Amino acid sequence: MTRPFTPAPWPRKLRSQHWYGGNSRDTIYHRGWLKNQGYPHDLFDGRPVIGILNTWSDLTPCNGHLRELAEKVKAGVWEAGGFPLEVPVFSASENSYRPTAMMYRNLAAMAVEEAMRGQPIDGAVLLVGCDKTTPSLLMGAASTDIPSIVVTGGPMLNGWFRGERIGSGTHLWKFSEAVKAGEMTQAEFLEAEASMSRSSGTCNTMGTASTMASMAEALGMALSGNAAIPAVDSRRRVMAQLTGRRIVQMVKDDLKPSDILTRAAFENAIRTNGAIGGSTNAVIHLLALAGRVGIDLTLDDWDRLGRDVPTIVNLMPSGRYLMEEFFYAGGLPAVLQRLGEAGLLDREALTVSGRTIWEEVREARNWNEDVILPADRPLTEQGGIAVLRGNLAPGGAVLKPSAASPHLLVHRGRAVVFEDIDDYKARIEDEALDIDETCIMVLKMCGPRGYPGMAEVGNMGLPPKVLRKGITDMVRISDARMSGTAYGTVVLHASPEAARGGPLAVVRDGDMIELDVPNRRLHLDVPETEIARRLADWRNPAPRPPGGYAQLFHDHVEGAETGADFDFLRGCRGREVGKDSH
Ligand code: FES
Repeated sequence: MTRPFTPAPWPRKLRSQHWYGGNSRDTIYHRGWLKNQGYPHDLFDGRPVIGILNTWSDLTPCNGHLRELAEKVKAGVWEAGGFPLEVPVFSASENSYRPTAMMYRNLAAMAVEEAMRGQPIDGAVLLVGCDKTTPSLLMGAASTDIPSIVVTGGPMLNGWFRGERIGSGTHLWKFSEAVKAGEMTQAEFLEAEASMSRSSGTCNTMGTASTMASMAEALGMALSGNAAIPAVDSRRRVMAQLTGRRIVQMVKDDLKPSDILTRAAFENAIRTNGAIGGSTNAVIHLLALAGRVGIDLTLDDWDRLGRDVPTIVNLMPSGRYLMEEFFYAGGLPAVLQRLGEAGLLDREALTVSGRTIWEEVREARNWNEDVILPADRPLTEQGGIAVLRGNLAPGGAVLKPSAASPHLLVHRGRAVVFEDIDDYKARIEDEALDIDETCIMVLKMCGPRGYPGMAEVGNMGLPPKVLRKGITDMVRISDARMSGTAYGTVVLHASPEAARGGPLAVVRDGDMIELDVPNRRLHLDVPETEIARRLADWRNPAPRPPGGYAQLFHDHVEGAETGADFDFLRGCRGREVGKDSH
């Protein structure tokens, strides 16, 4: 349900005035120190103070250009009469953090929440890009309910190698399999690597970064058109400046995340994810975000809402093109317009612009029907995320049909079990491994608690002896995640995870497993009494970490089926600081 929004009266006293207003010893302390940066006294007169929360880092190369973009945001804030202050926040880089950036999403969200609440910020521009930076800042902002708006760094330009489009991540998986199969030399692999990342920006496929940028826009948390503009296109900088202008008015109106992140917004985002062939990671991040604003979103919502949404965006990893072409074709507004025409969009959902989503997109046009496909020839008829259940995943598991092989969607096979990621790495290239393409590969101990952090290893590479036959896909099942740039008939997020004693923990080599995606079934064909006996004998091989953040993570991370947030971070704690020195 959408809610009517009534702007707050203006002028009124903003929270930043608790730091900067008046002439007490404390306010002079806060204000006087900031003046060492050369700010004139009238900037502290009660105008909106805008925090530009910047996830720039040299070790987050996808966000490496965000300091330049921050300057454009500042220009917009100044123009609109606000006072911009750039604030560095935790940058959970996908390609730097080990064991996996996902282990730090909640830490980043917690740091952002405290940075917003504990400082004189009336409104926030969330300057994000790389996979985890978008959900972590959205989650943190949602838990403060301080007016916030997303602007992403935008995707890289197309990669090109020997006349072929090279998609970030997607071709890394393809080429590494080709090297294993003896179809590509190491030297060619290195040459391809150099062709992959041609400009600043995030992954250029519809991977997790582009998916989460699209989710932010579909949720109404970014200005219309934000998701697809390439990082180096001048219009990206225009978008940043317009975002800076807009946040000032949002503060004056007190247009908050809770006004925008309604159930209707989440339902729009889920359907959008089906239409764009978006990453399975969106499932986890949106479940966690919904938990921050008290929306009771479930895995079943993902299946129910996405099931009849055809995938119409022809982008890798499911399709052929890249984000640059998506932008030229009309970007996300053209997709949302199509969903609206088809009755698959709640047109009344509010956005950061103060207008409804339908007001934003109803005039959008599709300029290339090879990239955004017509309704009668979609990439996949049922593009949403399939949520599977059965005795192997009673809490649910997910699969992305648009990235799977149609002939494997109903499959019965013999389990080949890897007890953890190290076991997989040690044995997958062993020519003596008893495996063929009809088998089902099972990987354990890669869930939120088990890995720890739930790494993107669910799309485990096939054994070389299968690859050499020209086989490119097998059914794989795990409690892990999968990179949004990856593909295959891959069952992910099996819940409860093995490290919590879920049934996945007791699958053995030779057990038969049945996957039936049309009927949403994942079944371990072992008598229930035998499963119960094995579970009773099971002992967790993963010790509790001896301290530090790893122990906090282990003790408090929830299951993938509810978004893998920390139990103590669910909900909105508001913007009040509580007891302070005033
Ligand atoms: Fe950062 Fe893909 S690794 S966007």
